[in-house]
Amino acid sequence: MSNPLHLNYPIHRPIGVQFLITPIRYDETAMANTTDFKGRWALVTGASAGIGAELARQLAGCGAKLILTARRKDRLDALAAELTSKGTDVRVVAADLNDPAAPQQIYEATEAAGLEVDILINNAGLGQFGAFQTSPIDQELAQVRVNCEAMVRLSRLFVPRMVERRRGWILILASTASFQPLPYFATYAASKAFDRFFALGIAAEVARYGVKVTALCPGPTESEFFSISRATIFEERGVQPTAEVARIGIEGLARGKRTVLPSAEGRLTSFIVRFLPVTLITHFMAKISGRQAHTS
Ligand SMILES: NC(=O)c1ccc[n+]([C@@H]2O[C@H](COP(=O)([O-])OP(=O)(O)OC[C@H]3O[C@@H](n4cnc5c(N)ncnc54)[C@H](OP(=O)(O)O)[C@@H]3O)[C@@H](O)[C@H]2O)c1
Repeated sequence: MSNPLHLNYPIHRPIGVQFLITPIRYDETAMANTTDFKGRWALVTGASAGIGAELARQLAGCGAKLILTARRKDRLDALAAELTSKGTDVRVVAADLNDPAAPQQIYEATEAAGLEVDILINNAGLGQFGAFQTSPIDQELAQVRVNCEAMVRLSRLFVPRMVERRRGWILILASTASFQPLPYFATYAASKAFDRFFALGIAAEVARYGVKVTALCPGPTESEFFSISRATIFEERGVQPTAEVARIGIEGLARGKRTVLPSAEGRLTSFIVRFLPVTLITHFMAKISGRQAHTS
């Protein structure tokens, strides 16, 4: 029997072995590439800095048109000017995603302007490192509101239109922090686990309508994140360049990959933690992070 997949091993193998070594294709769009983004509107949250700004630049490089949102309008305007000078059509909508009304306002701004958002990049996020018992409650809740609630609201607003059009791409910024609980960064890690699980759940729901959902799970990445969150302990061993994370994320999204881990270390640790008792992981993480949390 010929081998229709052109694999360099015979296809008559025990079914379990074949399942382990054959790449799983979720749908026909697995081979899609970033040229699919050309001419489409992409909404990027948290586009004023870090990974979001770079995702916007790279989507523009793929020919997408951009709607940039975040709180710092001066930064968004500067990025819009940079992209416009290269021929990209760009709109700016300043909004604070800590406000539950903001997603609806962003959605209405795009609808009023007649923009069909085919690509939704749920990137805005923040963390708060430190002992939970002394952490400002507003900062704890802001992580839940921005990282989770606003992301769900935006997805709920834009997904129906994508389903109607039978096309769409949603990138959700999770993290390697989503693979295990993190003492002294507990709300953040839990919010990222929520993001990843949400992405995986709706991905399986909307795939039949041609809508692809990807959870991008970076490890430590160069950005303002660590100074804002005070989680400098996680950048001590080096950070991945923002441009690399954004490129790998966008390529994964174009291919319809459900989970994208852009760093080799992230791929390794997310695999290893599956086999370790969670109490062991949290015991060691509490020791390591606790030292810094109690001295800073
Ligand atoms: N850097 C990392 O190591 C790393 C690793 C894994 C995952 N991530 C995730 O990647 C995403 C981007 O983080 P980053 O590293 O690029 O951090 P960053 O440089 O601090 O950028 C965060 C972005 O989120 C926006 N944002 C924060 N609070 C907001 C609010 N209330 N309303 C609207 N926008 C808000 C910020 O814009 P304004 O301040 O202008 O509002 C900024 O554009 C986050 O979801 C983060 O959890 C980061």
